Amino acid sequence: MSRTVIHGGLVVTASDEIHADVLIEGGRIAALAAHGTDAATSWSADRRIDATGMYVLPGGVDAHTHMKMPFGGTYAADTFETGTRAAAWGGTTTIVDFAIQTMGRSLREGLDTWHAKADGRCAVDYGFHMILSDVNESSLKEMDRLVAEGVTSFKLFMAYPGVFYSDDGRILRAMQRASGNGGLVMMHAENGIAIDVLVEQALAEGRTDPRYHGDVRKVALEAEATHRAVQLARVAGAPLYVVHVSADEAVDEIAAARHKGLPVFGETCPQYLFLSTDNLAEPGFEGAKYVCSTPLRPREHQEVLWRGLRNNELQVVSTDHCPFCFSGQKEMGRGDFSKIPNGMPGVEHRMDLLHQAVVDGHLSRRRWVEIACASPARMFGLYPKKGTIAPGADADVVIYDPGAEQTISAETHHMAVDYSAYEGRRVTGQVRTVLSRGVPVIEDRAYVGHAGHGTYLPRGTCQYL
Ligand code: URP
Ligand code: ZN
Ligand code: ZN
Repeated sequence: MSRTVIHGGLVVTASDEIHADVLIEGGRIAALAAHGTDAATSWSADRRIDATGMYVLPGGVDAHTHMKMPFGGTYAADTFETGTRAAAWGGTTTIVDFAIQTMGRSLREGLDTWHAKADGRCAVDYGFHMILSDVNESSLKEMDRLVAEGVTSFKLFMAYPGVFYSDDGRILRAMQRASGNGGLVMMHAENGIAIDVLVEQALAEGRTDPRYHGDVRKVALEAEATHRAVQLARVAGAPLYVVHVSADEAVDEIAAARHKGLPVFGETCPQYLFLSTDNLAEPGFEGAKYVCSTPLRPREHQEVLWRGLRNNELQVVSTDHCPFCFSGQKEMGRGDFSKIPNGMPGVEHRMDLLHQAVVDGHLSRRRWVEIACASPARMFGLYPKKGTIAPGADADVVIYDPGAEQTISAETHHMAVDYSAYEGRRVTGQVRTVLSRGVPVIEDRAYVGHAGHGTYLPRGTCQYL
């Protein structure tokens, strides 16, 4: 059994910061011992990694990605191969992607399609959520089977009428089913019916530029849908996880629900923490690069999101990685913002941007690891295999240089997309080395992994309740 020792670093988990050496045996963490002690120095090893001056972190868990997602008449640009490689470059060693049920088809068919897309192609480990597009007797029954086999979370949409949208009755039925089978309902909370009216009116009045995407997807319509989702989950007796929360009033709805003791959770994404409607309003058609839903909000919302992350009103930061190239894809919406494919790239930079938030004083180091590694693992039934550094956990480990300076750019990123939403942004901190189950994927800033190393992760039910 191969043995690796990582020595001299500061091990940071959601609960501790300790100067400890880490022994890895057969792909798992075998032991931690205080640096310099007899216990640590006595370990024999095939490989020794010097982490002096570095953080030793659990690999990141990005619980919201869309590799090769068919959307808006095109496909998200990253495949499982390119997307998981980019994830590894950024210190993310687990993704949970969304398999899609096509209208009129079974959940099984959607899941099989996603397995075929991912199998043998991933650089790091992966699991699946299931998007429920067609809630009916048969798909409700299928939910039970999926939970039993490790697809334990289901995304429903209050937005996108005619595509993924479910009405309140269907949502209630899915939540009732989840309350019985242990599944977690993930909600895209925007009032899509009202938004479509505003889209039609904006276009009729000649308001066609990307910035109107942000205008019509009103804060009130995110807050209203969040409130409605909470009430439906309450009636069903089901837990609820609200995805990509961007508006201050939506945070308030989640906080109010949690204050009442309801099992309601919230996720936000780096784009809502670092970007704003100013980006959507960039001149020419540049704003299209920032079109995603929920939309970017005015800057003032950011402080509420940071507060929510600090106070545990929001538990998780995922990327909602859904990249479309500017050229040929985002451009589909020139002259009509509603035709711009919704989504942004981000899987590579989540850990770095959140480290920048540590540098800027928004988060503590442990909270950084909690919202990016431990809590997503707990939320989606992967803990403590993923999300921590403790004996028995998978040896998904990131050696992170907290003092390295880097400039984010499409010139240097590894995602298969022709722009960066953070072009030119200077951040402090960078991944040096990444192990996935003890195997180097990134070594001293060189990619040494391969497609097919990543394995499928059947998941348990939510461990955050
Ligand atoms: O704009 C986004 N978020 N695209 C991906 C699909 C979704 O709603 O998460
Ligand atoms: Zn969504
Ligand atoms: Zn998404």
